[in-house]
Amino acid sequence: MNEPVTIHFRGETITAHRGETLLQALWNSGHHLIDHVGCLGGACGACSGTFTDPATGEPRSALACQLMVRDGLHFRFTTLTELPAPTYRSDALRPDLAGLLACHPETVRCRSCEACTLVCPQQIDVMGAVLAAIQGRLAATAEHGLSCVSCGLCMVVCEVGIAPQLVMAFARRSVGAAETAADPTLAARPPLPEARWAELLAATPEALLAEGEE
Ligand code: SF4
Ligand code: SF4
Ligand code: FES
Repeated sequence: MNEPVTIHFRGETITAHRGETLLQALWNSGHHLIDHVGCLGGACGACSGTFTDPATGEPRSALACQLMVRDGLHFRFTTLTELPAPTYRSDALRPDLAGLLACHPETVRCRSCEACTLVCPQQIDVMGAVLAAIQGRLAATAEHGLSCVSCGLCMVVCEVGIAPQLVMAFARRSVGAAETAADPTLAARPPLPEARWAELLAATPEALLAEGEE
């Protein structure tokens, strides 16, 4: 077995082994986690958290399924508050500042503090994405956010209440909607009936998930 190391989690001192990820170390030490666990491949953002770098004492962020344990690591999962997600029709989105502000008016509050960029475990230039959106350059925002795993850490640290991952999602959807409308093949598809739109907009997230699983 690999060299043992000591890590800290929820006030508990745990013996882990080099070569384990933080999640593996927790499982192997008897922590049967269900929350904060998703794809295990660094793609879903469910396991995001913060830790103290044992070498520097600096606070940092990571995905627990990707973070390799090291001696003296203190880790805590991020607990997200309810997501302030607006509901909108994808066929009516405009990839410009007016379109963005209709859905996310808080975006203009950005004060360029860079906290979102510093915390992002995917090393995305999150502040750059938000500033590009404010300048109306939605395609650039969409490009910035391609590797976003929606972990929400950038939202947690934003003191002015912006959810950058939602701004980037809006950018991807609105740019995609505009490209679809401009493509003669895709644009020829029959539109979704208004009654279906009404049904979708009124549905709860749980109902939509259940429908997707059918
Ligand atoms: S944390 Fe918020 S205010 Fe700071 S740069 Fe990011 S979006 Fe702007
Ligand atoms: S942009 Fe935000 S939500 Fe996306 S990966 Fe980075 S910190 Fe997580
Ligand atoms: S479990 Fe999905 S990113 Fe870690």
